[in-house]
Amino acid sequence: MQNIHHFQSAKLDSRKITLLTCYDYSFARILADSAIDAVLVGDSAATVVHGYEYTTHATLDMMVMHTRAVAKGLNQKKFLIADMPFLSYRKSLDHSLNAVEALIQAGAHAIKLEGVRGNEDLIQHIVGSGVPVMGHLGLTPQHIHALGGFKIQGREKILQKQLLADAKSLEALGAFSIVLECIPASLAQTISKTLTIPTIGIGAGQHTDGQILVLHDLLGLSTFNAKFVKEFMEGKSLCLDAVNRYTSEVIQNIYPNEAFSYE
Ligand code: KIV
Repeated sequence: MQNIHHFQSAKLDSRKITLLTCYDYSFARILADSAIDAVLVGDSAATVVHGYEYTTHATLDMMVMHTRAVAKGLNQKKFLIADMPFLSYRKSLDHSLNAVEALIQAGAHAIKLEGVRGNEDLIQHIVGSGVPVMGHLGLTPQHIHALGGFKIQGREKILQKQLLADAKSLEALGAFSIVLECIPASLAQTISKTLTIPTIGIGAGQHTDGQILVLHDLLGLSTFNAKFVKEFMEGKSLCLDAVNRYTSEVIQNIYPNEAFSYE
């Protein structure tokens, strides 16, 4: 299994770090046997698996349930990060640490949380308690209503400065890596060059230290079609084809034949 030292050494050796999201046991078993470095139980579970419009609908119970299932499927073969859901780290230190504890007990090795301003003490406390923290800057979907929609962040000079400062501050607070979501490639490059901890991009171009994608987007199983998403498989049509072949064989009494029946 990879760990946070792998993240650091990969950056030092200029080796790309690969991550995917995962939400359930069956896919986790596949990822366990794959070449991927690490897995994130993203709060995108709320949109991808539960059909909500925003990740703000993810709850701690939801994240714990998915983390437990993924941890079982990975069977300690991959480093597992779990997202702290919306507002679970904005109420009080006690409340936040209970959320961290629940995710770690469910099988996560690290947690991810969005933004840095107002989270400084908390991040330091979590890191100081022995739990690796991954940051998340740029398009932070838990702030979707404040950001005014899903759009590229950091096009303006002032926001670019702010994002660079936030990234530096996450590094200083002890984060082991930072997800950069939907920012211009040149800004992601500057941040990645400036930091000593690795950056993991999604919609942030090719100059970050690693990449993450939502598993269902990569497999062609989702309806999300942002510019940065590349479908590596036509999952939806493959699934439809299998379901329709099954339906047709049942109707024609081809399946199940003797080979699939008990005497
Ligand atoms: O929830 C999620 O899937 C994420 C990734 C997109 C980074 O945070």
